[in-house]
Amino acid sequence: MPAELACFQERCRARFPVSEVIYNCPQCGSLLEAVYSGARQPAADLRALWLARRTSNAPLDQSGVWRFREFLPFLPSYDSVVTLREGNTPLLGAPRAARYGGLDRLTFKHQGFNPTGSFKDNGMTCGVAQALRLGMRRVACASTGNTSASMAAYASAAGLQPVVFIPHGNIAYGKLAQALEYGALTLQIEANFDQVLALLRRLAERLGIYLLNSINPFRIEGQKTIMVEMMEQRGWRPPDWVVLPGGNLGNISAFGKALRELKDAGLIDRLPRLAVVQAEGAAPFYNLLRAADRSRLNPVGHPQTLATAIRIGAPVSWPKALREVEASGGLVEKVTEQEIADAKAVIGRCGIGCEPASAATLAGIRKLVHAGAVRADADVVAILTGNVLKDPDYIYRYHTGVLESPGGGLIQPNFGNKPVVVPNNEAQIAAILDR
Ligand code: F0G
Repeated sequence: MPAELACFQERCRARFPVSEVIYNCPQCGSLLEAVYSGARQPAADLRALWLARRTSNAPLDQSGVWRFREFLPFLPSYDSVVTLREGNTPLLGAPRAARYGGLDRLTFKHQGFNPTGSFKDNGMTCGVAQALRLGMRRVACASTGNTSASMAAYASAAGLQPVVFIPHGNIAYGKLAQALEYGALTLQIEANFDQVLALLRRLAERLGIYLLNSINPFRIEGQKTIMVEMMEQRGWRPPDWVVLPGGNLGNISAFGKALRELKDAGLIDRLPRLAVVQAEGAAPFYNLLRAADRSRLNPVGHPQTLATAIRIGAPVSWPKALREVEASGGLVEKVTEQEIADAKAVIGRCGIGCEPASAATLAGIRKLVHAGAVRADADVVAILTGNVLKDPDYIYRYHTGVLESPGGGLIQPNFGNKPVVVPNNEAQIAAILDR
C-alpha cells in the first residue's frame, strides 16, 4: 500500500515521500504523520491473518508489532527489521485496583512486559527499521529514560550506534542502567527534558543523526499496535474508556490514530473515549483543555514530579493529542504525587506492579469516577506503560516512609510495607510471624 508523510496541519496537508529524512513539515513546520492510500483488505481477512500468525515461528510473526504489519505498511521490505518480540503484552484483570478506583471492574494492559520494560519498544522497532531503510548509521533521542533504554537496545541489535541525551539527575536508575548496558553513548545534560530535546533537534540536523523521539512519525506507527493488539485480545469489542499517562503526548497520538484507523477499516464499530492523566507539577496539557483558547499550549517552565517519565513541560505532540482527545470525546485529568504513590502501591498489591508514571492512570480513574466523569460500571482499560523494576529507588523510599515530594514534605506510605530488620534468632523471628 503506498505510504507517504503528510503534514498534520489541516490548512497545509503537504505530502512528502517516506524516504525523506524530515521530522516536521518543511513547508509550515507542523508535525508529520504517516498516511496510506489504496484499498485495505477486508476486516475479516485481516483478523484471520493476524490470528493465524500467532501459531507461526517466524520472528516477524512473533512480534506483537509486525504481526499487524498490514496496519503500518511504510516499509518496502521487511528483510532488515529487527524484532526483540516486542508487544504481546497481557490484559490483566485487577479487582483490587478496580475497587480502589471506584469501578466494578478494571483491566490493565501492561506494556511493562515488553523486552526493555516499556511501551517504547512497540514504536522503537519501527523507528529503527526506518533508520536502516534510510541508511542512517547513528540514531539519537532525548529521553526521560524509557525511550533511551529502548532505543539503545534496538539500535545495538540492529548494528547502529545509539546516542542518548538525558536530563542529569532526573532519570530512574533502572533506565539509565539499561542505556549503559545496551551500549549507548550516554550524555547526561544539565538541563530538563524539554531543553535537552530542543538541543538535540538542532544537533541531529547538523550531524546527520537520525532522531528517534516520538516526533518521529514511524515510532507512532509502531505504538498504534498497542491498540490493535488490545482490540484483538478483547475480541474486537471496544472498551468505554482507555486511560493512559501523558508526558510528551506521543502515545495518546498513536492510540487515537490507531483507533480511528481501526474504525475506518471496519475492525471496530465505535471509538473508546481516551483519558489522559498528567502529574500535577507537569500538567500543561491538562491546562490547555481548560483554557478558553486551545490554539496554543502554555509550557510549564519547571515541570516537577517524582514520576520522572512524565516530567515534561512542553510536550511536542500536543496538537495531535488534542485532536485525538477531542475526536474521542475524551478528557484530561491531573493527579498529585501522593495520589500517584498510593495508586502505584495498590497496583503492586494486585501482584502486577508498574513504574510511577503508569500509576497515574489508576489515580486519575479514582478521581474521575468520584467526580462522576467515568461511571462505576464503565468498561475501562488502563495502560501501564512501564515495568515495576524501572524505578526501585522510588519503591523503597515509599515503603519506608522517606519518599520526598518535589514540593517539599514527605509522601505518606498509606499502603506502606516496610521490611522488618530482625536478629538471627529463631525464637524472635517465630514471635514476629505469630503476631
Ligand atoms: N509512561 C512512561 C513509563 C513513559 O516513559 C512515558 C514517556 C510516558 C508514560 C508518557 O508517554 O510521552 O508518549 O505521553 N517517556 C518518554 C521517554 C518521554 O523519554 O522515555 P508520552
